[in-house]
This record gives sequence, structure tokens and C-alpha cells, in this order.
Amino acid sequence: MLSDLLTSRPIRAFIFDVDGVVADTAGFHVAAWKGAVQEQGIDFPESIAESLRGESRRRSLELILGERTISQEQFETIMHRKNEAYVAALSRLTNDDCMPGVVRLIGLLRKNGIKVGAVSASQSARRVLQLIGASKLFETVVDGRDAQFIPEKHRFEIAVAKLEVSPANCCVVEDSLANIVVAKKLGMCAIGVGPAASSNEADYVLETLEALVRRENALPSIRLKADDVSNEWNSDCPPLGCR
Ligand code: BG6
Ligand code: MG
Repeated sequence: MLSDLLTSRPIRAFIFDVDGVVADTAGFHVAAWKGAVQEQGIDFPESIAESLRGESRRRSLELILGERTISQEQFETIMHRKNEAYVAALSRLTNDDCMPGVVRLIGLLRKNGIKVGAVSASQSARRVLQLIGASKLFETVVDGRDAQFIPEKHRFEIAVAKLEVSPANCCVVEDSLANIVVAKKLGMCAIGVGPAASSNEADYVLETLEALVRRENALPSIRLKADDVSNEWNSDCPPLGCR
């Protein structure tokens, strides 16, 4: 159970991924990729959409192209056009695009003295947090721009250093299978949500974070016994911004 986790390790900090965990933006990335490749006459393989979660811009395009080769110039053009489309789409973001349960969960964590950070591969993550009204929830934010300046470190490592905790005392919440593997390699605890809920690598898996703050929903989706669920996680927490 999560409350056991907080006392057993002990966990001193939580690091939340942004796209697909805090903000409902995974679909915005996919739609922008689709438009950008299709305008160059390239098919977007629908089956790849979920595996783009958490991947860098460059790696995402490599995954979309698969075996297909294109010129370096066309590659750069597609990445540029994808970003233009993604950034333009962000103007539609509002507080309603905050993922359900996230604000309440962060409130509970903070009430329990846990530090909370946000990490993202995206260069637009800070803007996304602003647009959904979630910036103030986090003590620290590390995004794609920060990681460019310390390329030898993974974003998770930069975040734990900023939060002044060790990786073993930190829990990552991720919707990307690839990033769960990274977190585990770094000795962190990992909670997989959304598509990553099928991960065998994660320590805990949940369909949504809302399941954590609503006991009745948590029971079927937490990979643990129902009677382990503590009432502590049902306590009311004042709303901090978005949903
Ligand atoms: C991640 C997204 O958060 O950021 C990926 O899950 C995206 O889909 C990556 O490719 C990089 O984002 P950006 O906005 O810098 O291209
Ligand atoms: Mg994500």
C-alpha cells in the first residue's frame, strides 16, 4: 500500500511526470506528430501512439519513421512543424486539462511532509503547468530545457538533487514504460499510471491517480490487498488550483 511505501523506505519526495500524468497533453503530442508527418506525405502508424509517451522529440520521430529513411533536412522540418503545432494547440489548455486526482494527491503528499517535484522531457512543460494552473504545486520543475545543460545526467537525477533527497528515497509517477525502467535503474521507487499501468517494472500500478485518493476506486487497481488500503489516503485535502 502506498502509505506503507511512505514509511518503509522512507519516501521523502515524489516526482511527477508532466505530460500524461499531471496534464492531459499526451493526445496533443500525438495529434501534432500526425499532422506534421502527414503534411510531408508520411503515414502516421496509429499503433505507435502510446509508445511515444516520454520519448524525446527526436526519438519520437525515429519511432514514427521506423525503417523509413528521410533526409536530415526533412527530419528537422518535421520536428519543427510538430513543435509549432503542439505549441499552438497548448493555447486551448485550461485547468480542466489537469489529470483527475493529481491536485488532491499532491495536497495529501504535502500534508504528509513529502517534497513534490515535476519532471518532463518536454521543452514546453513549464508552460503546460502554468496553463493548467499547476505550477505552484511543485517545489521544483525539471524540463527538457534544463536537461540540455547537464546532458550527462538524467532529468530524474537533476530533480532529486534539486529536492535534496537520494534516489532511494524518491518515488517517480510515470505514464511512460521507458521512464519507469530508467527510474528503477536509478534505484528509485516507481508508480506506473495509464499505459504504464501494465508495467511489470513499476512498484505500484494504477489506472489513474484518482484511484489513489478515492478508496473505492483504488481497490481494484492497486496491485495489493484491499485491506492494506489505509484511511489516511481518504482524508480531505483543500483544493489547490485545478480539479
Ligand atoms: C514528453 C512527451 O513529455 O516530452 C513526449 O511525453 C514528447 O511525447 C517529449 O516527445 C518532448 O517534448 P517536446 O515538447 O520538447 O517536443
Ligand atoms: Mg508522460
